[in-house]
Amino acid sequence: MDKSIVVIGSYNIDMVVQAPRIPSPGETILGGTFSMVAGGKGANQAVAAARSGGSVKFIARLGDDMFGHQAIEGLKADHIDTTHVVQTPEAASGVALITVSDEGENAITVASGANALLLPDAIDQADAMLASAAIVLIQLETPLETISHVMNRCEAPGVPVILNPAPALPLDDAIFSKVAVLTPNETEAALISGLPVTDVESAKRAGEAILAKGVGTLIITLGSEGALLFEGGTSRLIPTFPVDAVDTTGAGDTFNGALSVAMSEGKSWEDAVTFANAAAALSVTVFGAQPSAPRRDDIDALVSSR
Ligand code: ATP
Ligand code: RIB
Repeated sequence: MDKSIVVIGSYNIDMVVQAPRIPSPGETILGGTFSMVAGGKGANQAVAAARSGGSVKFIARLGDDMFGHQAIEGLKADHIDTTHVVQTPEAASGVALITVSDEGENAITVASGANALLLPDAIDQADAMLASAAIVLIQLETPLETISHVMNRCEAPGVPVILNPAPALPLDDAIFSKVAVLTPNETEAALISGLPVTDVESAKRAGEAILAKGVGTLIITLGSEGALLFEGGTSRLIPTFPVDAVDTTGAGDTFNGALSVAMSEGKSWEDAVTFANAAAALSVTVFGAQPSAPRRDDIDALVSSR
């Protein structure tokens, strides 16, 4: 087994407008600057893992268009193996329309495009890559049949799968016993558990309900509070690092990418979550999804400052 992290998931071009606030349904507001940046949960996590020091391989589908070409160049610039990042003439590259408010919050609408064509056969084509991985990392901007297929393919070789269940979607309970590490945010933890999550105490209750579904290790991310780690029969809050948030888009993605690297390096759970918190905290201080993923030296420096 090599030490590589295989990330399976989406690539989107993020079309971002900064605005005073998120508009209500039916409302038009005059926003500020428009930017196009590289995004998509899968690609964001792959880039975050690579910049955190991981050896990363990415499996994805792009359109055979300008965005698709740019995507592959960008991934290669981050030293990501793109052997199984394939451009298809059957759909356009994924696009996300994002509004970022003055408070740094966001609202996102995704046109999946080629991401919807990341089907089980794409996983079979990358079977050798999957079987030799140290860790597989996947999210929910990929068809659910593909998620199940990945879980099944990883079972026999014993490759641990981190499932970041984002964006929030209903899942079949049968999947959870195959998940080594589940990393929901508050909204996703509430959906999976069927319990409200509004603070650390309610997150603990939701977490117990999620663990009962058979998940190995559970980490509920709690924004500026940090992350709640459930491991070895106990739960504890691992606080994040105080920063001035500019744009939280991709914070969860950076957390997951960095977490996968820390796991592949054999860090303790507490150190791994601290490392992921530090990476994610740095990411919210910079605008954009992939542009905000920090480098290893900066993450290590922030961890050492505590
Ligand atoms: P997003 O959807 O905005 O990408 P998310 O909802 O998936 O993020 P969060 O729980 O909001 O995930 O944040 C993920 C991690 O990012 C947190 O666990 C924390 O480590 C870090 N983080 C988020 N917001 C802040 C903040 N304001 N200050 C410091 N760290 C933060
Ligand atoms: O998690 C952030 C990402 O969600 C954005 O980059 C956007 O592309 C959407 O997929």
